[in-house]
Amino acid sequence: MLDRTMDWFAKAFIKSSLVWLALGVLAGLAMAARPEWVSWRPVHAHLSVLGFLVMSLYGVAYHVIPRFTGHLLYSPRLAGWHFWLSNVGLAVMAVAFALVPLTGRTWSGLLTVGGMLSAAGAFAFIVNLWRTMDGPPAARGGGIRETGPQRLNVIQPKR
Ligand code: HEM
Ligand code: HEM
Repeated sequence: MLDRTMDWFAKAFIKSSLVWLALGVLAGLAMAARPEWVSWRPVHAHLSVLGFLVMSLYGVAYHVIPRFTGHLLYSPRLAGWHFWLSNVGLAVMAVAFALVPLTGRTWSGLLTVGGMLSAAGAFAFIVNLWRTMDGPPAARGGGIRETGPQRLNVIQPKR
């Protein structure tokens, strides 16, 4: 049943996006103050764009899409996995990017591991939202309309 409360993963994605934003703007400020630190640009870019913009959109989409479409989220369990894959993946990527200026060599193995976790998270999101928008089989079968708890356009007030 849809209600006004947020699922833990929607809240966690938005809170984590705020943490990534804080780290991202600090890295941006550092580069603005010290232009010779521009080699930190990939760290700043991924913290800001993948960390803040993308993670916040994941969180908002998990809350809003089921309510817009009136369908329950296809898999809350997959969304939980997605949260950990994306956040651990980005943390590993950020460390791999940061190690380049710190050590003077590339860390493409570590970057690939982080990138694969992050990409796996993105694919989990794609599958979950796609199936949520399609709705349960009864809603796709033609003729059979969703009824009862499957039909969720009505938001239940909290008691
Ligand atoms: C206090 C806030 C910020 C500061 C001081 C800042 C500063 C900088 C600096 C100094 C650069 C490097 C420019 C160069 O190449 O010389 C940069 C690049 C970049 N910033 Fe920020 N930034 C801030 C916030 C953000 C935010 C909020 C985002 C995204 C949501 C963002 C996305 C990017 C991206 C994608 C690049 C790389 C651009 C490229 O590839 O050329 N920045 N930023
Ligand atoms: C699977 C995840 C990803 C991996 C492994 C990855 C990897 C990379 C690599 C290796 C670079 C070149 C860095 C360099 O100049 O040395 C790069 C640059 C960049 N990526 Fe990603 N990326 C990923 C996801 C994303 C996503 C989802 C976005 C945006 C939503 C993004 C935005 C950027 C930007 C703006 C740059 C340019 C940064 C700069 O100018 O320094 N990346 N990425």
